[in-house]
Amino acid sequence: MSSQYGEVYSQWMQDPVSFWESQAAQIDWIKPWERAFAAEEGAYGRWFSGAQCNTSANCLDRHVGSGRAEQLALIYDSPVTGTKQRYTYAQLLEKVSQLAAVMAAHGVGKGDRVLIYMPMIPEAAMAMLASARLGAVHSVVFGGFAAQELATRIEDAKPAMIVSASCGIEPGRIVAYKPLLDEAIELSAHKPSCCLIKQREALNAELVPERDYDLEGLMREAARTGQSAAPVAVEATDPLYVLYTSGTTGQPKGVVRDNGGHMVALKWTMENFYDVKPGEVFWAASDVGWVVGHSYIVYAPLLHGATTVLYEGKPVGTPDAGAFWRVIAENNVVSLFTAPTAFRAIKKEDPNGEYLKKYDIGSLRSLFLAGERADPDTISWAEQLLEVPVLDHWWQTETGWCISGNPLGLGALPVKLGSATVPMPGYDVQVLDDAGHPVEAGVLGNIAVRLPLPPGCLPTLWEAEERFKDAYLSEFPGFYKTSDAGLKDEDGYLFIMSRTDDIINVAGHRLSTGAMEEVLASHDDVAECAVIGVSDKLKGQLPCGFVVLKSGVEREHSEIEKELVGLVRQQIGPVAAFKLVITVERLPKTRSGKILRGTMRSIADGQDYKMPATIDDPSILDEISEALEGYRSTS
Ligand code: COA
Ligand code: AMP
Repeated sequence: MSSQYGEVYSQWMQDPVSFWESQAAQIDWIKPWERAFAAEEGAYGRWFSGAQCNTSANCLDRHVGSGRAEQLALIYDSPVTGTKQRYTYAQLLEKVSQLAAVMAAHGVGKGDRVLIYMPMIPEAAMAMLASARLGAVHSVVFGGFAAQELATRIEDAKPAMIVSASCGIEPGRIVAYKPLLDEAIELSAHKPSCCLIKQREALNAELVPERDYDLEGLMREAARTGQSAAPVAVEATDPLYVLYTSGTTGQPKGVVRDNGGHMVALKWTMENFYDVKPGEVFWAASDVGWVVGHSYIVYAPLLHGATTVLYEGKPVGTPDAGAFWRVIAENNVVSLFTAPTAFRAIKKEDPNGEYLKKYDIGSLRSLFLAGERADPDTISWAEQLLEVPVLDHWWQTETGWCISGNPLGLGALPVKLGSATVPMPGYDVQVLDDAGHPVEAGVLGNIAVRLPLPPGCLPTLWEAEERFKDAYLSEFPGFYKTSDAGLKDEDGYLFIMSRTDDIINVAGHRLSTGAMEEVLASHDDVAECAVIGVSDKLKGQLPCGFVVLKSGVEREHSEIEKELVGLVRQQIGPVAAFKLVITVERLPKTRSGKILRGTMRSIADGQDYKMPATIDDPSILDEISEALEGYRSTS
């Protein structure tokens, strides 16, 4: 089939507002919009201004009312606990309505924030949908973050309630969430008035009297007494959630997602991009703590009337490299979405795909990869193994859905390995030089999206409109700055190569080296430091810290380095995968004192580099090379 992409993209180009208006017919609105796009509202305009809706009702009630009550909505598959649970749309609606009633009874109302710090269990998705039902604003914090990161988010979002669990389960280790939560609340100036805690069999948490409640007990009581909350009408432009993502400093950015535009955009993607039909099973092997989990474990599949899989496990080790094939085979998954790093992990354990022989994955039609650039080797390996299209697509927490990719639903375009294919309707993607002028095809530059951003993208940062404008809109007037660098070839295919800021990508997780530097600098013995991302075969990048100690420090370097690793793990969390610290005499700098992180990265990766013209003392680069050599030979 030839692709309809070109036709659809030009339809959007010719009349973007009518394009999205016609897609909006797929959503149930409580009150229709006054203007599909209000250019003068917000920082760059707002979508579906004046409309009222409820996201939870569109994900659940609508399908129960239209014949999908008995269809599966959510499949929970947890190899780490040996549990499988299935919820039909009717059952999920019942649970979510009960949980919303419990939340309301404990003081949560429209506009209040509900922070969710949970492992991959059904209650995490239920809490998101229950919050949406009440018109509250959820903020999910990934379980791999430590108390300090959690505290920063509590302090910024000021939640009325926190929903959490006694523990998460990582291969070989139980992560006690409750002590981390207690410590975070202690550290934060804002205190939630109430916490709902899901007690898990693996570990029982102690509850703080008059603040903590047993979530399951309250749900049972709600079921017994017939409590259930109806969906509350919210403005399409009201926030559905705030999701914190790494910025250039230790203060994360609170990406705001609205209700109306978000539903319209996600619904469009399910059929047109992912080629998934209502009633089919879609699996995003990610975590609800990340944007992929928000959009494609919870909201998009449910808005579409599809079945979603919530998987509490890893691609390898739970129990083996056949885990993904088992889940696909047992649940008739038609499309899998994950990060390339997950496939690199499988390839490393099972390069010849022996485990695949044990399963029939005939239901699978496609594999979508995102979160980091899909390297050509991984794509080719997965294509040969699975014999389905393997499609890379590029997106960001800020956009909530893909900026560019290969739209299978519209008919796939030819794949170019290493390219995230073409911009989706909604995105006019330009490659600009540092002065903001478009560069020619094939030339590397700053990737920017012409304003306005399409429905679903962030309208602002949580209570930080100026930071939003500074971070994204000011450098290239009229454009949204993606902070990604790359190029467009003569066919309009996009190649996303690297970040232009100090964000690194570790196993598909977005992390700030600036935040890690803040932690290292807080150690008493550290005078100066720099953290860079070095290439890693499995995780894409790994953080590596260089520290200069204060003069007069006589302790063993290895002892201090160990403390620094512990400090980052304790303050940011295990997800940072921060395990490399090297003590050096000096850091290479420009004459104006800027640390030459880019040059250090090239040295660490063994790449050729040009001696920066502004370098203060070139001999320091040799010292860095020697330190790295020394490190490699001892580790
Ligand atoms: N709660 C607590 N700790 C967590 C956690 C969670 N939810 N998730 C990860 N961690 C911990 C891990 O246990 C590990 O700790 P360790 O240092 O004690 O071993 C650390 O954080 C790093 O975790 P991770 O990045 O998951 O590495 P890993 O070595 O355990 O697994 C992969 C490697 C490739 C299998 C894994 O990273 C993976 O599946 N990645 C897919 C990424 C993804 O889904 N990205 C989302 C974008 S689509
Ligand atoms: P996150 O906000 O966590 O989704 O991370 C977004 C960043 O991940 C982007 O700015 C890119 O740097 C990177 N990224 C995500 N998907 C891709 C992709 N398909 N190709 C290249 N980089 C990607």
